Amino acid sequence: MTPTPSSVAVPAVPPTPNTQAAPVTELLREEPIRRLRLDDLPACLRLAQNRSWPPEEQKWRFLFAAGQVYGLADPAGELAATVVLTPYGPELAVIGMVLVAARYNRQGLGRRLMQHALAEAHGTPVALYATEAGRPLYEELGFRTLIASTTHVGYFQPRPATTGPGRVRPATLADSAAIFRLDAQVTGTNRQAVLDQLLVFAEHWWVLEHNGVIKGYAAAWRNIGQVVMGPVIAPDAAGAQQLVAAAGKALGPAELLRLEVDARHPTLLAWVPQHGLQPTFTTSLMLHGTDALPGNRTQLFSPIMLALD
Ligand SMILES: CC(C)(COP(=O)(O)OP(=O)(O)OC[C@H]1O[C@@H](n2cnc3c(N)ncnc32)[C@H](O)[C@@H]1OP(=O)(O)O)[C@@H](O)C(=O)NCCC(=O)NCCS
Repeated sequence: MTPTPSSVAVPAVPPTPNTQAAPVTELLREEPIRRLRLDDLPACLRLAQNRSWPPEEQKWRFLFAAGQVYGLADPAGELAATVVLTPYGPELAVIGMVLVAARYNRQGLGRRLMQHALAEAHGTPVALYATEAGRPLYEELGFRTLIASTTHVGYFQPRPATTGPGRVRPATLADSAAIFRLDAQVTGTNRQAVLDQLLVFAEHWWVLEHNGVIKGYAAAWRNIGQVVMGPVIAPDAAGAQQLVAAAGKALGPAELLRLEVDARHPTLLAWVPQHGLQPTFTTSLMLHGTDALPGNRTQLFSPIMLALD
């Protein structure tokens, strides 16, 4: 589920040719879907490039640590398809990185991988961010669109000054317990295992404090050519703006910043382009097995990444 803007510089890993035909019936019926390991990461990067997605090595490493990566190999030993399932306890699981090599387009592999991930979710409600390419497949599988989300990218411009009731400061390890508690309250899920990995993966953490109580937090992690902010949790839009402004200030004018904001947050959606981050593409937040997300989502302003909610 994680498209990346065209401004990102790609290559390094040669893409797999699209031209060869493969005996897909055999793949569909015989080849087992297997849990991938870190050894499979180069093949995941080749598959991503095959679909013109950048080879986001660090992001895949994080997903291998935080989630369950599944894949299907073709007879040539290349990956034909992947999906990542990340469970957040009994309330929700998230699906991401649904990729099928272009040479196997529209031959049922996407459906098969998705069905596998849904089976591994064991009836837990599932969320995902869908590209336009993925949406028909997910609708066919019973996913319903909840809301649109817009990805913004740009160089943060700090004017006009951003103020709010709280104070933003860099987080310390001593804040972890309060961050995990707040995250569980807002998302209504247990993301502890993923946040533990994010502690190592993210370059920056900030907390929003008011009267000595942590009311919000944000993390930022480095992807190819840009820094991605996520998650952003705040009591209101003013708090979210303070966190984004703190990130923009810490990163400086030379770092490209990326932020996903969904339509539940019109105030932040209007504020972000005024501060240099422009809308680049939209995705749809879709749900399976439930009509609503758990927790108090009005305080979740940005997901960790599109592949993770
Ligand atoms: C989206 C993607 C995963 C679909 O994989 P796929 O293997 O081609 O899909 P399937 O063949 O399993 O499609 C199953 C069903 O989904 C629907 N579907 C899939 N692609 C569709 C399309 N382009 N238009 C309309 N319906 C489509 C159809 O109902 C299809 O069944 P049918 O072919 O019998 O009509 C694949 O095109 C891809 O990797 N795209 C690039 C990366 C991407 O955007 N991934 C999704 C991220 S959210």
